Amino acid sequence: MAAQQHDLVIIGAGPGGYTAAIRAAQLGLNVACVEKEPAPGGTCLRIGCIPSKALLESSERYREVKHDFATHGVRAGNVELDLATMLKRKEQIVTTLTRGVDSLFKKNKVTRYLGLARIEGTGRVVVDGEKGSTELKAKYILIATGSKPATLPGVELDGKLIGTSTEALSYPEVPKHLVIIGAGYIGLELGSVWSRLGAKVTVLEFLARILPGMDSEIAAEAKKLFEKQGLEFRLESKVTSAKVEKGQCKVECEGSEPITCDRVLLAVGRSPNTDKLGLDAIPIELHKKGFVPVNERFATTVDGIYAIGDVIPGPMLAHKAEEEAVACVERLVTGHGHVNYDAVAGVVYTQPEIASVGKTEDELRTVGTEYRKGTFPFRANARSRTLGQLDGSVKILADAKTDRILGVHIIGPHAGDLINEAATAISFGASSEDLARTCHVHPTLGEAMREAALRSRHGALAPERRGPPLPAHRPAQP
Ligand code: NAI
Repeated sequence: MAAQQHDLVIIGAGPGGYTAAIRAAQLGLNVACVEKEPAPGGTCLRIGCIPSKALLESSERYREVKHDFATHGVRAGNVELDLATMLKRKEQIVTTLTRGVDSLFKKNKVTRYLGLARIEGTGRVVVDGEKGSTELKAKYILIATGSKPATLPGVELDGKLIGTSTEALSYPEVPKHLVIIGAGYIGLELGSVWSRLGAKVTVLEFLARILPGMDSEIAAEAKKLFEKQGLEFRLESKVTSAKVEKGQCKVECEGSEPITCDRVLLAVGRSPNTDKLGLDAIPIELHKKGFVPVNERFATTVDGIYAIGDVIPGPMLAHKAEEEAVACVERLVTGHGHVNYDAVAGVVYTQPEIASVGKTEDELRTVGTEYRKGTFPFRANARSRTLGQLDGSVKILADAKTDRILGVHIIGPHAGDLINEAATAISFGASSEDLARTCHVHPTLGEAMREAALRSRHGALAPERRGPPLPAHRPAQP
């Protein structure tokens, strides 16, 4: 059969791949997208961000009704968990969203191919599908194949009792004791879900802290709050093995007694998906950790082949992949397009949420940048009081000389939504004074951001613009 001709062939229909496909089609390219799974959406939509957020929401509702509503003067009798319905709701959300991607593909006339793609050389891709192979030809090829859970030597994944995040999104019953290896994004989010639903959760972390990469002060505060919620942390724990023995899981750590539990979740990071792509034959040489090297245009070392998302170095986040997708295809078509990585935020959807954008204090200290810091606790914010969610704070880091905002770190209610204001500020090169002078609606959680900005200026706006220094807008309450 003759090869199918396209302008751009994208491999992978996750947030990177489908965003690139739609944007490229809008810009007038004839686009094909190859995906090995029947549903588009990639890890994020099918087995990652979306189903985990659905379960985080449902499990938090359960916890609230059970433990918190009485303080609001609402009494709920006989609260029961219906796990099957909770899991079904999650599946329905996933189905609706993946169908949404399908219809966007149709609307934008993106051709979909179902099967495993292999790059045969510049401009040539072969798709091995159920009904045989199809050859595609294109001027450009974009690799957007994402990542998969990293494995750990000695941990024997059986896909049932010892598994990864994929299995932990669908446990058919609440584990009595769940051991999680890794206190990163996935360990804390899914640990929170199952702990709220009644499991005893033990988190084993190799490092002396949780959430590496996040601001260490915020991470320390988070650990205390999670411990109050019942999560048990064993830091500096090096897991040497995990296996199933007589229907139970046995987890061994260096220097401590083995732990017996009924389920294990391995969450020690993710590795780029480059298997079976045929990269070694082209050849594209991979980085040590398996990432595809690219330049600022997302071009690989081979003409016409590009890569974006989890498969290239950088944070493994859906929205980072989407930014790269738009920048990459816009650059192909218009010659312009770039990503401001300083404005790519990260969010952990625990309770409270943790969100971060720009530089951490640890990073600023390491490179010797002089900065000013303003923090504001949510317990002094009126909206937090009405929500009954007082834990946490906003921290703003601004350049000591220029006042430009360098980083914002939030732990607290709706931190994941609040952080977008900080990302906007950073992407516009705003100063902490700009934030402090912006009228924020009262009563909102966003006022905590303004107050933190004021405090980073020691409560003072610029004297040359506004006369004598002003006190903080709303004084902190005890
Ligand atoms: P992670 O990199 O966030 O955390 C992995 C943790 O495992 C680290 O704390 C690490 O020190 C620890 N670890 C590594 N080896 C270990 C060992 N042998 N024993 C004990 N602990 C060990 O990775 P995670 O949580 O698996 O998430 C993977 C990726 O998925 C992340 O890069 C994250 O960006 C993304 N993700 C993002 C989410 C979000 O945006 N809300 C949610 C879930 C995942």
